[in-house]
Amino acid sequence: MTDNFDDLRNSVILSELGGYGNGIFCAQYAKGASVVMMGTYIIDSARNIHYPPEFIFRPGGNYRSYFEAHIKEARLSGAKVAVSAIGSELKDVIDMLVTAEQCGADFISLCAHSAMELYTKQGLGYKLCMPENRDNLKRWISEILSATSKPLILKPGSVWHDYIVESVSIAAQSGTPIVHANLGLAFEPEAIATIGELSQIFDFVIAGGGITGIDGAKEVLEAGAGAVSVAKAAIQDVHFIEQLGRELKEIVISKSAQ
Ligand SMILES: Cc1cc2nc3c(=O)[nH]c(=O)nc-3n(C[C@H](O)[C@H](O)[C@H](O)COP(=O)(O)O)c2cc1C
Repeated sequence: MTDNFDDLRNSVILSELGGYGNGIFCAQYAKGASVVMMGTYIIDSARNIHYPPEFIFRPGGNYRSYFEAHIKEARLSGAKVAVSAIGSELKDVIDMLVTAEQCGADFISLCAHSAMELYTKQGLGYKLCMPENRDNLKRWISEILSATSKPLILKPGSVWHDYIVESVSIAAQSGTPIVHANLGLAFEPEAIATIGELSQIFDFVIAGGGITGIDGAKEVLEAGAGAVSVAKAAIQDVHFIEQLGRELKEIVISKSAQ
């Protein structure tokens, strides 16, 4: 089934912020956003993971009560809620994402963006989208899609890598509706061109990386993104997302009045 996600168009999305992006942070910092990306949450049995402890769960751990409370809290922002997860074992990631759905998440997200060695050494994290790992990417996406029902957002590593479009196409062909592109080298022509390519492949493209105001947001939307994502600027200014969201709405209203 194709969804055009019209309610998200030309909006601002709070990007994943491990260590920050729990329900309380989303409620405070993401007023005016259309979606808040909670997490990324780690689900892993590995020990001594260097990551904010609140965002790490063990397989079988009590993330259900955590998500029940934090998704409810995140909703106070007025936004829909997405939960982003990563882990060494596909079955654990699936369990976390299914639980997030059951606790009310509107979207689920697979983090294939992480540069943590724990994941890259297993061909996971951003390496999941490298050409040699495409079979595994396909397996992860297919199994997540068959176990879950909410729209899946794939967040690959920085999209200016030349192999990214071909790799994420596999995820789109398998049924992933949304890609979240981090431009990495924000506003380089190659990165901007990639947004256009991704918008031909996915139902919806979220793009961000280096957005500090309305000009950057407009450029990303004009390149073909459906919505812009913001991380650092949101941490720095509690009103940033609300202000940017308002400015984008004004542009859309004045365009439709013309
Ligand atoms: C403190 C911090 C934590 C982040 N944590 C995550 C994370 O857990 N998962 C993820 O996919 N991206 C994470 N990111 C990347 C952001 O979501 C975003 O893609 C990137 O910072 C580019 O956007 P920006 O220029 O608006 O910050 C993090 C970024 C920062 C600054």
